[in-house]
Amino acid sequence: MSNKRIAILGAGPSGLAQLRAFEAARLAGAENLPEIVCYEKQNAIGGMWNYSWRTGLDRNGEPVHGSMYRYLWSNGPKECLEFADYSFDEHFGEAIPSYPPREVLKDYIMGRIDKQDIQKYIRFECPVRWVAFDNDTQKFTVTVMNHKTNEQEVEEFDYVVVATGHFSTPNMPYFQGLETFPGRILHAHDFRDALEFKDEDILLIGSSYSAEDIGTQCYKYGTKSVTISYRTQALGYDWPDGIKEVPLVTHFEDDVAHFADGTSQKFDAIIMCTGYLFHFPFMPDELRLQTHNCLYPKNLYKGIFWQPNPKLIYLGMQDQYFTFNMFDAQAWYARDVIMGDIKIPDLATRTADEQEWVATYAKCATVSDSIDFQAAYIRDLTNATDYPEFAVEKQGDILKEWQIDKTDNIMTFREKGYRSTLTGTLSPELPEPWLDVLDDSLEHFLNMSLVKPKNRKKAS
Ligand SMILES: Cc1cc2nc3c(=O)[nH]c(=O)nc-3n(C[C@H](O)[C@H](O)[C@H](O)COP(=O)(O)OP(=O)(O)OC[C@H]3O[C@@H](n4cnc5c(N)ncnc54)[C@H](O)[C@@H]3O)c2cc1C
Ligand SMILES: NC(=O)c1ccc[n+]([C@@H]2O[C@H](COP(=O)([O-])OP(=O)(O)OC[C@H]3O[C@@H](n4cnc5c(N)ncnc54)[C@H](OP(=O)(O)O)[C@@H]3O)[C@@H](O)[C@H]2O)c1
Repeated sequence: MSNKRIAILGAGPSGLAQLRAFEAARLAGAENLPEIVCYEKQNAIGGMWNYSWRTGLDRNGEPVHGSMYRYLWSNGPKECLEFADYSFDEHFGEAIPSYPPREVLKDYIMGRIDKQDIQKYIRFECPVRWVAFDNDTQKFTVTVMNHKTNEQEVEEFDYVVVATGHFSTPNMPYFQGLETFPGRILHAHDFRDALEFKDEDILLIGSSYSAEDIGTQCYKYGTKSVTISYRTQALGYDWPDGIKEVPLVTHFEDDVAHFADGTSQKFDAIIMCTGYLFHFPFMPDELRLQTHNCLYPKNLYKGIFWQPNPKLIYLGMQDQYFTFNMFDAQAWYARDVIMGDIKIPDLATRTADEQEWVATYAKCATVSDSIDFQAAYIRDLTNATDYPEFAVEKQGDILKEWQIDKTDNIMTFREKGYRSTLTGTLSPELPEPWLDVLDDSLEHFLNMSLVKPKNRKKAS
């Protein structure tokens, strides 16, 4: 073991990827491993996938991290997030459909971790309070609140890996008249159960993934009507009766919303699907990433290393077409830098590299361009490490098909099956229409998926 110490902040998929990367090196016989401490605010691993019924504050008075809800299904094909060192086939033993519900995906994430002795590095219920860097000692000081001992802990580290996610702190805009709206007003972060809105007329503000998913979810579980109000661009899907899109809200009068096209309607509840803030209250200004949800946040070399001080590492801070495999690609690269196998160049070279990526990103005009961009970014990282080969460009092609499937039918795209680029296994189609599958438990999904229905069309 080397005498370096690293702190990993957060044990969601990104933080776990970092732990897994070091574990892979250990299993491969590496001897210069650093000492690792991972601080996690919650009492379990999994990050966003660690579903909680709670909203507001947790039992320690900390902001609840989770934004996931009951009945959430993956919104992208699982073939594009598969860990290159742990396939779905290895985990489930049989082919399962391409769009698993939340509980099934969580089971897969946990499966890889259960096989490794990784949890010993994690200190649970330890929210990070403050990080500071001392230029003289070249070390970070990390202060955490240990809710298990009810004491603050302060320790020194050579590297800090920030893996605290960026889909947790609501961006909550104001619209005139909201204060007198008589019904429920919540952000997508606090949405938990579509049944709460059964038989209601609901208004969703925002027009991205949360709006389309919460909208279709509520429709599935019996909401009377869903109205999606967009600021820049409508989602534009061919919606079924009961879901429609309107321009942005201008103001409210009691329970009536007025829209920019002059129309108005009465609603029972409002769900703000208006995205999330990058929120690092434990970071001083000189170390704090300040960005918005995009594919190449500024001030990060290789999308990972804080430009002014590359011993500070940010994982998973991009908007995400690729998720788990991208976090792995980043974590393996960061590991090799920390272990001295990859040298970080000087600031001028780092800045030029970042500028080239930012310039290429600026030229992305379509969703296809953005998918290719993120695939190229991941390829750039994996080319430099021993992360197992996975055909990221082919996965990009699947993501492009996914876009077409959604446009073809936003209510049925989850019924289609794709081929794993790792194992070649073709996923079966969902055996029943997604709209009819109200029980999304792991048990039901696996039972249903492994029974081959008669007359099912062959997956393409
Ligand atoms: C509603 C929703 C649905 C999604 N669905 C999908 C999907 O279907 N497929 C997909 O691939 N991705 C999906 N995502 C994206 C999701 O963000 C990623 O899959 C993944 O969870 C990101 O991992 P992460 O580790 O970077 O962040 P997170 O999963 O957010 O984990 C961050 C961790 O850091 C901890 N933490 C935060 N602050 C502190 C602190 N101060 N101190 C200590 N610990 C702290 C948190 O408790 C958490 O455990 C979805 C996101 C949302 C919001
Ligand atoms: N089932 C699933 O897997 C699932 C479900 C939900 C979410 N997610 C994930 O969660 C992540 C976050 O998605 P998201 O949709 O919450 O956030 P997002 O993609 O960042 O989109 C934010 C939306 O809010 C709108 N907005 C922001 N401020 C606004 C304002 N003041 N007024 C009106 N509209 C405003 C934006 O509109 P403009 O376009 O005008 O900026 C945009 O449409 C994604 O990674 C997604 O994949 C997954």
